[in-house]
Amino acid sequence: MSGTVIVGAQWGDEGKGKVVDLLAERFEIVARYQGGSNAGHTVVVGEETFKFRLLPSGILDPDKLCVLGNGVVLDPATLCGELEELERRGRSTAGLRISGNAHLVMPWHQILDAQSEVQLGPLQIGTTKRGIGPAYADKAARIGIRVQDVLDRNILREKVDAALELKNQQLERIYGLEPLDGATLLADLERFARRLEPYIADTAKLLDDALRAGRPVLFEGAQGTLLDLDHGTYPFVTSSNPVAGGACTGSGVGPTMITSVIGVAKAYLTRVGSGPFPSEADPERGDRLREIGAEFGTVTGRERRCGWLDLVGLKFAARVNGMTELILTKLDVLSSFETIPVCTAYRLRDGLVTSDFPPHQSDFHHATGVFEELPGWGADISGVTSFADLPSAARDYVRWVEERMELPVSLVGVGPRRDQMLVPDRVGVA
Ligand code: IMP
Repeated sequence: MSGTVIVGAQWGDEGKGKVVDLLAERFEIVARYQGGSNAGHTVVVGEETFKFRLLPSGILDPDKLCVLGNGVVLDPATLCGELEELERRGRSTAGLRISGNAHLVMPWHQILDAQSEVQLGPLQIGTTKRGIGPAYADKAARIGIRVQDVLDRNILREKVDAALELKNQQLERIYGLEPLDGATLLADLERFARRLEPYIADTAKLLDDALRAGRPVLFEGAQGTLLDLDHGTYPFVTSSNPVAGGACTGSGVGPTMITSVIGVAKAYLTRVGSGPFPSEADPERGDRLREIGAEFGTVTGRERRCGWLDLVGLKFAARVNGMTELILTKLDVLSSFETIPVCTAYRLRDGLVTSDFPPHQSDFHHATGVFEELPGWGADISGVTSFADLPSAARDYVRWVEERMELPVSLVGVGPRRDQMLVPDRVGVA
């Protein structure tokens, strides 16, 4: 059995899509297990750029099955749009399988997401406003509408009517908005149902069967560890479990099916939305990182906050995910910096310096980074095609991270293309 999880080791946007696209050739199935159209993957293949929100990045390989697991919340309009766009560009979508247990993101979820942010005012989370939190809230409250519901008109009508009764009250009475029209909603859903029906399958069984037959499966996490609902920097988190454990609940395979967990981290750090960020760079260098790294959200276009690699957060991510290896992306973005700060510990309010991720939010909210400065390499590395040809300071940076993390770094990214991922020569790693 060979189940591998790819998990974001930071606050999302680590470049997981590109990594999945690259590794997908070793796997027969790629499965997404959580999140929804709050995610944004950019994959560059040759001269072509693809941007996905819902589809697993593996969809570009026509020989693969791509699963949207039960843990995903699915906006049918976005999904249908992505399928149409791919087909327009001559790509097959025949390999897609969608769990009937996945929940649908409905128009009221998006409206309520935006309204709740307005209501939170200065305490707002900075969500992507894609309806993700409200959709998972309805799932937990057991009033969600699932993919399988669209297969039966009567059930669908019953569920939409029941949900609308409640949601329209909320929209009208709490937010003073116009109610949503049930007939229009149902008509849209029926159109989506016809488009999506051929892809709906018992994906948990499909994955288990595949793993038992020795066919390797790649589980693709969206967002990142620090955005995890349980383990992330709550309340500034998403409403699902990106951590590797989420691959089991979000896809329906048992934990013994997972044999390796690959963490993906940028060689520096970014965060979208609100919340503490102990290794955030000063404005001048933050702007430089953003500009060179093109750090603007794929989904929202928002500027990402930029900072330095945070080993405290990364070690925490290694622990909660049971990481077996690490992939570092975007090393090239650091090339123009004379020295490169790395956050190795946090200084807490009481002056205590710790390399453990604080278990209490107030400590984390007031933590400031303690940095070590590593030498830069002062040369463009985006054209380098083998790890051995990197400047020694760039190789040392990677090795230093390996040693501190006690984890092998199995790939290093120096640019967005598939051929810009370098395989480090192995050095003494624990
Ligand atoms: P939500 O997932 O839209 O509810 O947003 C909750 C938090 O997660 C916000 O801080 C978002 O900026 C963040 N977030 C959600 N998806 C992503 C992502 O794919 N990359 C980075 N941040 C994300």
